[in-house]
Amino acid sequence: TEKNKKLIAGNWKMNGLKGALSEIEQIAKQLEAFKDKGTFLICPPATLIAGAKALAGDSLQIGSQDCHSEQKGAFTGDISAEMVADLGGTFVIVGHSERREGHAETNATVKAKANAGLGQGLKPIVCCGETLEQREVGEAIGFVTQQIAESTPDELSKDGEIAIAYEPIWAIGTGKTASTEDVKEMHVALRKTLVEKFGERGNSIEILYGGSVKPENANALLNTQDVDGALVGGASLKAESFLGIVAAL
Ligand code: G3P
Repeated sequence: TEKNKKLIAGNWKMNGLKGALSEIEQIAKQLEAFKDKGTFLICPPATLIAGAKALAGDSLQIGSQDCHSEQKGAFTGDISAEMVADLGGTFVIVGHSERREGHAETNATVKAKANAGLGQGLKPIVCCGETLEQREVGEAIGFVTQQIAESTPDELSKDGEIAIAYEPIWAIGTGKTASTEDVKEMHVALRKTLVEKFGERGNSIEILYGGSVKPENANALLNTQDVDGALVGGASLKAESFLGIVAAL
């Protein structure tokens, strides 16, 4: 990925029945005009990946919100990276705080999922983020950088690409965003962690910010140092608000 292009990603979480595909259709159509400005991605629920891909065209990437670390077998209810790739998916979100919390995913689990995604040619977006309590006691940077050091693959092959998403848990779905000062401080610390782990390569890994990103705050966040894009929840569900964020580029 060219780093001068931002990555704007939508995470629909457990939202969207088949009628919601009309939003994908609208987003895809209108993104044509922004092609040169960024890379655009929607991760709908797994049930809509095939339908979304059929409507996405060239300007919109489609991805999954999760994958299993194994490629197949007795894992009831899970989907594999290969299944995502088979439907034309190109990205997979791994280690979202809602998965870490609700499905007891550890850094080791998340790393295994990222490796599974890479193995199928998907680009994993590895998520991290602190709780409010951790921030209040001054542990945010130490906790989050350790999460990323431990949740990313040990090595990146020549073609293997990952992205990172920093999502402070207290800013998710709350309407609260981290201040641009706090975002900058964290993203700079994450950049350092990535360079320590991956060398020069760490400089080209996109670091996204997530947590109540919307059209009104997107421009300030996207212009913060070391913010290479956004991972958007609620505001990605409607074409109008997702495109409002894109228009802030
Ligand atoms: O993955 C995106 C997310 O957790 C942020 O959600 O609704 O605060 O934009 P939201």
